Amino acid sequence: MSGLLAGRRVLVSAGPTYEDIDPVRFLGNRSSGKMGFAIAAAAQAAGAQVQLVAGPVQLPTPPGVARTDVRSAAQMHAAVLQALPCDVYVGAAAVADFTPRTVAREKLKKAPGQDGLVLELVRTADILAAVAAHPQRPRLVVGFAAETHDVAAYARAKLERKGVDLVCANRVGPGAQGFESDDNALLVLDRAGTAQALGPAPKAVLAAQLVRLFAERLA
Ligand code: CTP
Repeated sequence: MSGLLAGRRVLVSAGPTYEDIDPVRFLGNRSSGKMGFAIAAAAQAAGAQVQLVAGPVQLPTPPGVARTDVRSAAQMHAAVLQALPCDVYVGAAAVADFTPRTVAREKLKKAPGQDGLVLELVRTADILAAVAAHPQRPRLVVGFAAETHDVAAYARAKLERKGVDLVCANRVGPGAQGFESDDNALLVLDRAGTAQALGPAPKAVLAAQLVRLFAERLA
């Protein structure tokens, strides 16, 4: 491992985003950040200079990794673009696709007899697609795809749509590893149509395998 990514700059986004509704409520998701943190640690161990942009997670910063904490998709977008240029961008974060159109300044109160509430959501910017289309595009742009079904087909569509080099797809939902687990199984797809299955294995093992793959692609 050691030295495989020496002299490379690796930028990793990890964890969920929280989209505020009012001062006490938000829309979030079940991402633990473990996969992204494991990739940051493995890249650092391989000699890279690593910048981690983390959503709200309960995880220690891997030794030697520079970390910026963010909360929302908009903050993550800004932090990631600010951290460019780099050689490798890994979008491991589970970024909210939608965010409330407005954030209430005061806590929303229910009215007597109110039996429902409609929240208006708007699309967030796609960080991964923005990095892939950026004038300072990293040489390697890596996305993640969490799918409950038709994993390979959806992941391949994502690869094309977002203009990325690699997509690491995993199955989520009942009976699957993924979000909160320490283990995972990935299907890594590239633009040439190759598919490589990694795991099931601990996320640290998968992260080391991914880093090796990144190094090969950069060579
Ligand atoms: N992503 C991003 N910015 C967003 C949304 C997603 O950078 N606003 C990135 C994630 O970090 C991940 C990949 O895109 O690398 C996931 O793609 P996404 O379209 O979010 O997947 P799903 O939400 O599963 O999409 P779908 O609607 O196809 O289920």
